[in-house]
Amino acid sequence: MAEMIDSLREAFAAQFGEGGDIRTYFAPGRVNLIGEHTDYNGGHVFPCALTIGTYAVARKREDRMLRMYSENFPNEGVITCPLDGLTYRAEDAWANYPKGVIRTAADRGYAADAGFDILYYGTIPNSSGLSSSASIEVLTGEVLRDLFGFDYDNIANAKIGQEAENSFIGVNCGIMDQFAIAMGRKDCAIFLDTATLEYEYAPIAMDGARIVIMNTNHKRGLGESKYNERRAECEQALAELQSVVSVGSLGELTEEMFEKCESAIGSEVRRRRARHAVTENARTIRAVAALRDGDLAEFGRLMNASHISLRDDYEVTGHELDTLVEAAWEVPGVIGARMTGAGFGGCAVCIVREESVDALIKAVCERYESKIGYPATCYVAEIGDGPRRI
Ligand code: GLA
Repeated sequence: MAEMIDSLREAFAAQFGEGGDIRTYFAPGRVNLIGEHTDYNGGHVFPCALTIGTYAVARKREDRMLRMYSENFPNEGVITCPLDGLTYRAEDAWANYPKGVIRTAADRGYAADAGFDILYYGTIPNSSGLSSSASIEVLTGEVLRDLFGFDYDNIANAKIGQEAENSFIGVNCGIMDQFAIAMGRKDCAIFLDTATLEYEYAPIAMDGARIVIMNTNHKRGLGESKYNERRAECEQALAELQSVVSVGSLGELTEEMFEKCESAIGSEVRRRRARHAVTENARTIRAVAALRDGDLAEFGRLMNASHISLRDDYEVTGHELDTLVEAAWEVPGVIGARMTGAGFGGCAVCIVREESVDALIKAVCERYESKIGYPATCYVAEIGDGPRRI
């Protein structure tokens, strides 16, 4: 970490000059263990923060200009804009994420009183479903809080990030990613009820097992429009159900209740979408209970069932993710595997016995490359802490 900080501070000085009060920050990425596409349906999620994430080096300016540079997108150069009246501009590319957070924070009463220079560097692969965008959002919220002495807490920071993503970027995401990142805790997953924002930390002591993230290296592409489409399908299904049962969200329905009223949903496709939201919520609650009981095998079975539901009912997996996950299921020592994040490409997550990690990676990578034509990438994940000044 110390080496990374030194080299980023050097890169900052090269872009923006030496001197002054230069500060360094980090925010993690996240992986969701189970509870997918439940967060905007008032259900439960079970994500954890990673040790990979996004770094920032920042220094206040005397004027009201923002100068932003990303080591990941050097060709975009330094993106410069006035602090006041920030709007989305396609040509500002990645910098729309920090701009959205700065704007949203200001709209909520946390207006920066000066501009700043900032350099970002992310170690999360882009479009991988490990929340590189929520990471940069929460990181920017952390930088603002520290540079300007704002008093919002981590949950408020998560909400600012989500609002920036919804209103400024235009992706109608739920709260899971920003919450998981802002509230991350080493070696714990977060059991979050997205309807109330009540949460509990669950220690992930896997006892001889590891979490492996498997990246399809297939960028999401159309993912964002499909994401908004799924969300709209769930909203419509809920409206149809509300004609026969009094509920505020799909997350309020048990599987038994859903079976009794699902015929009120007018299309077979929307019925499957809603069924996923309901069954996935139930699986997530059961999975956390299984983990508490030390029943990792049951946790793994629920992960597998989650993938099947996302594949067949929600239809967000696609050929690449299915290939990875189905290959993992066949490897001895694998406890469970599923896609993670929004889907449509990105990553899968697998829990595997420690002694089988190498065999898993070898088997999955070989199968993937021969079927898909380009390689997958696998990482052993470590669960890390939330955003902080470093
Ligand atoms: C994306 C969104 C989250 C969540 C997941 C699917 O990561 O940002 O809010 O909806 O997809 O579970």
